[in-house]
Amino acid sequence: MTLSELQLKTSAGEKIVMLTCYDSTFAKLSEAAGVEMLLVGDSLGMVLQGAENTLNVSMHHMTYHTKNVAAGALNTFIVADMPLGSYEHDNEAAYKNAVWLIKSGAHMVKFEGGGVRVGTAKYLIERGIPVCAHLGFTPQSVNQLGGYKIQGKTDESAKKIMADAIAMSKAGVSFVLLEMVPAALAKTITASIKAPTIGIGAGVDCSGQVLVLQDLLGIYTGVANKNASNFKCPRFVRNFLKDTNSIQAAVEAYVAAVKSKTFPALEHSY
Ligand code: KIV
Repeated sequence: MTLSELQLKTSAGEKIVMLTCYDSTFAKLSEAAGVEMLLVGDSLGMVLQGAENTLNVSMHHMTYHTKNVAAGALNTFIVADMPLGSYEHDNEAAYKNAVWLIKSGAHMVKFEGGGVRVGTAKYLIERGIPVCAHLGFTPQSVNQLGGYKIQGKTDESAKKIMADAIAMSKAGVSFVLLEMVPAALAKTITASIKAPTIGIGAGVDCSGQVLVLQDLLGIYTGVANKNASNFKCPRFVRNFLKDTNSIQAAVEAYVAAVKSKTFPALEHSY
C-alpha cells in the first residue's frame, strides 16, 4: 500500500481504514483483515505502558514499536507518531527524529498541532518526509486543554481548527487527522482542504477513520493502576469483538463498517 494508492482511493470516495498497532503479530493480523494504514501511536503510553497519558513516550519507545510493526506488516502503510519533545523545539531536531522513525520502518510521521507547527511540516515535506497533521484534541497538550475534551465547539475554536487544517494542507501534508471535533466541523474541513482527513470522534464524513486497537477489541479499561469499573469509554469507541468470535473477525468487521460508512454512527459522533 503506497501513498499514491491511498490518494487514488480517497479521490474515488473510498473510505480509508487506519488502526493503531504496536507489535508484529497484530500488524500481520490487521494487514490480513484489510487495514490499509497502521498507526504506531504514542497511545502506546496508555495501552501498553499503563500510563495516564502519552506524555512520557520517548523516541526510543516509538522506534522500537515501529520496527516491530514494520516486521509484521510488509504491505501496509505505516504512520509513526512523533512523541512529545521530539519535534517542537527546532526543525532540524524534528527532521532528525522523523528520519529515525522512517529508518525504523515508518512511511510517514504524524505530529500534533497547527500554528507554528506548519513551518515544521513544510521543513519535513521539503526534505522528503511525508507528514500527517493531528488537529482537534491533541493528547500531548492534555494539560493545556484541561483534560480529554471535545475541541471546536465554540466559533473561535472551530475557526482555529479550520485555519490550521487549511494551512497544513497548503503546506503539503498528506493527511489531516481530526480527533474529537464536532462531526459538522469535520465535514466542512474535509470538503475544504486538499489533504484527506482521518477521523477519530469526528463523524462519518472524514475521508477515513482510525481507532485504537485495544478500544476496538473492548479490552482497554483505563490506566493500569486504577479501578477498571471507574473507566468511562469514550463515545467514539465501538467494541467490534462483542459481535464476532475472533480478533481477526473483529478487525474485519471494523474494516467493513468503515468502508460501508456504518461506522462511526451518530451515537459515536459529537
Ligand atoms: O496515538 C494515537 O493512537 C493517536 C490516535 C488517538 C489517533 O494519535
